[in-house]
Amino acid sequence: MFWRSCMKSLILEGFMGCGKSRIAKGLAKKYNLELIDTDEIIEDEQKKRISDIFEDEGEEAFRDMETSLLKRLCKKEGPFVLSLGGGMPCREENRRLLKEIGTVVYLKASPEVLTGRLEKGVEKRPMLKGHDLKQRVSQLLTERRDAYEEAADVVMDIGLSDPDTIVSMIEKEFLL
Ligand code: S3P
Repeated sequence: MFWRSCMKSLILEGFMGCGKSRIAKGLAKKYNLELIDTDEIIEDEQKKRISDIFEDEGEEAFRDMETSLLKRLCKKEGPFVLSLGGGMPCREENRRLLKEIGTVVYLKASPEVLTGRLEKGVEKRPMLKGHDLKQRVSQLLTERRDAYEEAADVVMDIGLSDPDTIVSMIEKEFLL
């Protein structure tokens, strides 16, 4: 089983809509590993949707919740599969914590692919709501490019690949 070769937790980062949650779910199931999705945990703990957290408490409060969760995950025994909210790598402190937790794979996609995939998911994503989608995706991607690259141990260009293909790409990357 390829997981023995790394024994570290596997972390998926990338822009909204790149498929982190689905791919993390696929990997966790296939390798019988615990699945941790930061957005889901924050929603469960706060008993609120992320869009409501942004509305009631603001973005900074949400970012603090993300950092506090990562600090706790540093102390958790792995390996597990961790799917990150798209903005998680933006804080320098978070990037440092991620290195302690495991191996980070950046699921990299073009603004065109991401925009197409996000058309239906704008309502639940406060970072996109109320903006011109195409422009906003390009703007945020430009702002975040360096953070994603810096956090990554492996950069994976996913193009138009479907989730199963991306799971295979990740397996190949880690197979010895
Ligand atoms: C965010 C991405 C979202 C969620 C929040 C903020 C971002 O997660 O954490 O809405 O800043 O990119 P997904 O990447 O799972 O959509």
